[in-house]
Amino acid sequence: MSNQMSNRMSNQTIICRCEDVTLEEIQNLIAEGLTTIDEIKRLSRCGMGPCQGRNCRPLLMNELARATGQDVREMKMPAFRPPTKPIKLGILLGQAGREENCQERADRGEGS
Ligand code: FES
Repeated sequence: MSNQMSNRMSNQTIICRCEDVTLEEIQNLIAEGLTTIDEIKRLSRCGMGPCQGRNCRPLLMNELARATGQDVREMKMPAFRPPTKPIKLGILLGQAGREENCQERADRGEGS
């Protein structure tokens, strides 16, 4: 994050949209002595929403780097999980094809 961008953010700027974490909350945790992404993530839930930090991680890392003087390139990255995405139970049960057949029968007016 450039200085120009950080100058435009207020304390109430949302850093993590998924978990509704503000810049002020991040700054307070850093002021309490937290210096790693994982520590801040665990206490604030920043980065634990459906996008798994895809949107907020760079902002968090830049704020942490700015406040502590760390180099972003040398920061330990948090554990990654794939972003959450809705999936139909039929797909998990291997019945994706059956679902299409049911829809085709319904389209023909044959019921399911
Ligand atoms: S914006 Fe932070 S987890 Fe999605």
